[in-house]
Amino acid sequence: MARNLIDSKIVDQLIAEAKVAMTKAYVPYSGYTVGAALLAKEGTIITGCNIENAAYSPTCCAERVAFFKAVSSGIKEFTAIAVCGGKGGVIADAFPPCGVCRQVMQEFCDPEKFVIIVIKPDTYDEFLLKELLPYGFDNSHMC
Ligand code: THU
Repeated sequence: MARNLIDSKIVDQLIAEAKVAMTKAYVPYSGYTVGAALLAKEGTIITGCNIENAAYSPTCCAERVAFFKAVSSGIKEFTAIAVCGGKGGVIADAFPPCGVCRQVMQEFCDPEKFVIIVIKPDTYDEFLLKELLPYGFDNSHMC
């Protein structure tokens, strides 16, 4: 459901970029293509796709590819991410971020403010990070 947590024009742009990123997925094992578009605080959009591996566990989700691209290029503050996925490149339903990706979001984003846009075939759902990762672990717990 659209809750207007961020501007709908920006949401449309993120959704469009996530769909393009989805086409770049490297998925010879699962066949599930995933795309993510991450919005930095300063306005840049960084995309990612899932990248699988014959050894399976080195596989990296689209969301983390986007975060790692951004952080490794010097961007560490983020506003929102849009995510879509599906078998054979078809968005048949929501493809929400896995727990590992939510934990990476927790490292770099404000759980009270960071918006996760889960793309569905004809619509999308919006969540705050704190809703998808309640009582998340972060550096404030390391003392
Ligand atoms: N995948 C993502 O890219 N993001 C997620 O948050 C969930 C799962 C990918 C990993 C794997 O390549 C495929 O989807 C099937 O699990």
